[in-house]
Amino acid sequence: MEETKYNFDVVRWFAVMAVVYLVVGTLVGTYIASELAWPVLNFDIAEITFGRLRPLHTNAVIFAFGGCTLFATGFYSVQRTGSTSLWSPKMAWFTFWGWNLIIVAAVITLPLGITQSKEYAELEWPIDLAIAVVWLSFGLNFIMTVAKRKTSHIYVSNWFFMGMFVMITYLHVVNSLAIPVSLFKSYSIFSGVQDAMIQWWWGHNAVGFYLTAGFLGIMYYFVPKQANRPVFSYRLSVLHFWALMFGYVWLGAHHLQYTALPDWTGSLGAAVSLAMIIPSWGGAINGMMTLSGAWDKLRTDYILRFMIMSLAFYAMSTFEGPVMSSKTVNALSHYTDWTIGHVHSGALGWVAMVSAGALYHLVEKLWNTKMYSAKLVNVHFWTSTIGTVVYITAMWVSGIMQGLMWRDYDEFGTLTYTFAESVAAMHPYYAMRAIGGMIFWTGGVIMLFNVIMTIRQASAQRSSSAAAATA
Ligand code: HEM
Ligand code: HEM
Repeated sequence: MEETKYNFDVVRWFAVMAVVYLVVGTLVGTYIASELAWPVLNFDIAEITFGRLRPLHTNAVIFAFGGCTLFATGFYSVQRTGSTSLWSPKMAWFTFWGWNLIIVAAVITLPLGITQSKEYAELEWPIDLAIAVVWLSFGLNFIMTVAKRKTSHIYVSNWFFMGMFVMITYLHVVNSLAIPVSLFKSYSIFSGVQDAMIQWWWGHNAVGFYLTAGFLGIMYYFVPKQANRPVFSYRLSVLHFWALMFGYVWLGAHHLQYTALPDWTGSLGAAVSLAMIIPSWGGAINGMMTLSGAWDKLRTDYILRFMIMSLAFYAMSTFEGPVMSSKTVNALSHYTDWTIGHVHSGALGWVAMVSAGALYHLVEKLWNTKMYSAKLVNVHFWTSTIGTVVYITAMWVSGIMQGLMWRDYDEFGTLTYTFAESVAAMHPYYAMRAIGGMIFWTGGVIMLFNVIMTIRQASAQRSSSAAAATA
């Protein structure tokens, strides 16, 4: 049988850059968390104040770290599941360099305050155009690789990647429609309540299709591979896919409860959000049950630990989200740190941990070796888990306290607490969050060290076996 030649060079580079961006993005996260706890760290320098660095953090973790992880795992799994090479390796390199240049553009413009002020869509119009072109190059290459597959079936992980691609293209283009007035300034073509609706239709679906569907694509390929078992229920995974595709797109309005938006849109958003518990938990259970009958693997396989823990956080955040969508709970949670806690139980617990597991698996496969230190993978697992738990616990306490303090009235109908008092009460929790962030970031540094050492070990092994062959 003819052996397939895979194109893994570009995958290797995406994988290494993903780990680098994990460290950089969470370092900026830890710094802004520290600024909130100790404002002196703003140093009165505009470029490094919280307001300027916050979008840099979100762009770095979501698009730089998340993007490189998705491209590495997507380009790898589409080749493996279709037993074929990439449709265009040159185009994959274009995606690599284009995406990294966009990241450089973000690092320069965001601290300078050049922004469209739309969350997760801050970058100005020339960069938005570049994102569209580079993103299309990824999608086209992916779909064409699926089309030239040698297997008859399209494995479910590819459906998740393609669903992400189609929806994010559509959302990015519509939400970024703007009229440029100069090279660095543009105005959205939407205004008022339409602008808010379009923005949060994008905002939530960046979560639903990018941070969820894309990473579920990762989960459906890498969990069965690492566990060396077929996915628990293939039928359930297909159901999970279609339910997510049809459900998620209706949820955006839950970000805009009690605003100028018509009331029914918020109710619709809340109702569909509630329904999303079913496919989300179906997917989480499907991933976890893949280990059914082989749970003992978790004792020794630290990479698998990352994946299973990430599924527990996925289940947790997809239970919390629907609860927060209800108008009664949202009246308390909106504008508070509870939202930030929810975000990071999904972002740290689910996205970052499933990525770490998949990247460790990839590094071993791509360099055809074992990790330099399995013990360090375990240390990373614990720092990630502890860092996440410290972070989200601090935010839950702080958020619920904030919400309760803001709505507390005395017998004369005046507010019991001033806003400044509520800010002062947050201090211990902000310090706790910064510490949780430092713990999580340390794990990322350990991962980077371990990956570099593994690559060095693999090239040393290669050159010694080459020397033995020529001797
Ligand atoms: C060391 C780890 C991290 C720390 C310390 C950290 C810290 C922070 C801080 C302080 C904020 C601003 C909160 C506020 O405005 O009150 C924030 C926002 C955010 N972070 Fe992180 N972060 C970390 C990792 C991540 C990762 C890995 C992701 C995604 C994969 C992520 C995604 C986000 C998002 C989406 C927001 C915006 C939340 C919102 O607007 O509601 N973070 N982060
Ligand atoms: C069924 C699943 C989910 C539902 C129904 C849901 C619902 C919600 C709700 C109601 C909010 C607060 C809106 C507000 O008051 O402003 C929110 C915020 C958020 N959620 Fe979720 N969530 C889900 C899953 C997730 C997951 C898995 C992640 C991460 C990977 C995530 C990331 C976020 C982010 C980043 C925000 C903050 C957006 C912002 O204000 O900037 N969510 N979500």
